[in-house]
Amino acid sequence: MREFEQALSARLGLVNPVALNSGTSALHLALVLSSVGPGDEVIIPAQTFVATGMAVLMQRATPVFADIDPMTGNVAPACIAERIGPRTKAVIPVHWAGYPCDMDEVNALAAQHGLAVVEDAAHALGATYKGKPVGSISRFTAFSFQAIKHLTTGDGGALCCLEEADARAAFSRRWFGIDRANSRPSILGEREYDLDAVGYKYHMNDLAAAVGLGNLEDFPQRLARRQWIGSYYRKHLLNVPGLQLLRLDDDRTHAYWLFTVLVERRKDFIRKLAENGIPSSVVHLRIDHNSVFGGARDDLPGQAAFNECQVAIPVHDGLADEDVERVIASIRGGW
Ligand SMILES: Cc1ncc(COP(=O)(O)O)c(C=O)c1O
Repeated sequence: MREFEQALSARLGLVNPVALNSGTSALHLALVLSSVGPGDEVIIPAQTFVATGMAVLMQRATPVFADIDPMTGNVAPACIAERIGPRTKAVIPVHWAGYPCDMDEVNALAAQHGLAVVEDAAHALGATYKGKPVGSISRFTAFSFQAIKHLTTGDGGALCCLEEADARAAFSRRWFGIDRANSRPSILGEREYDLDAVGYKYHMNDLAAAVGLGNLEDFPQRLARRQWIGSYYRKHLLNVPGLQLLRLDDDRTHAYWLFTVLVERRKDFIRKLAENGIPSSVVHLRIDHNSVFGGARDDLPGQAAFNECQVAIPVHDGLADEDVERVIASIRGGW
């Protein structure tokens, strides 16, 4: 596990990655270390997987939904500013599809209001923002290495911590609060400790870490292939009637876990691609509608617009050039 963590730092520039058993554990542990508790509020977008909101509920805190920019799928900093109140403790920007959020603006707001920033980078391993790798920017960054992520450990995750004290706490709290690496068992066979806070069984196991190390070998090539496919789609799907590409600013790079487009008549689009043997999917719809999060909000116009027409088309390092051409031809043929 240590070797995997060191490789994540050395090869991908992640700061203090603490290997865990899932991305959800990483989000939850970050909120624990940010002292988020009952009655606190955490600002999140609805355009994410339910894990983001569940991590907030695990701390008996309230998720407050901020609107997204419908041209990126990412949380809008101006709406975060509107949602900040006396009980706000943290904000979780989600890098939708692997495209980094406006982190300068989010971190400036957080600094101004004393909030913890926990980047949900489940989709964004390998992305960069203003020249820095995601995982080296905010106080906390949570990654997922779940089965279908572009770096997988079967199931797993990592929490990156900019502050050394957070990293130390994450290392110990991932295994019940016992500092496994820096304590030796006494003659009695048990480590000596006095636990003064709740700890978790969140560590990654060595089998998973070995799978991750193997996967890391060719991760740069696989990421580059995804990025090439992403750029190729952008060039060849420009000006297709009924389809809009998302915005891509040149101060950040996309990890392309997904390639999301906005389409008119989405069901027809999905049916037409399926007839040509091409899978497409929304992957995740807005999460606020779930009763556990309090039901669909009506003050998220950007989210509502995005939710109506977003869909992801295939982007995978296993796609051959002919596959990519087939996707483009099928879309350009209309639906
Ligand atoms: C945006 C987002 N956040 C968090 C998670 C949770 O990651 P994990 O499945 O590793 O717990 C996922 C998983 O797909 C996700 O898509």
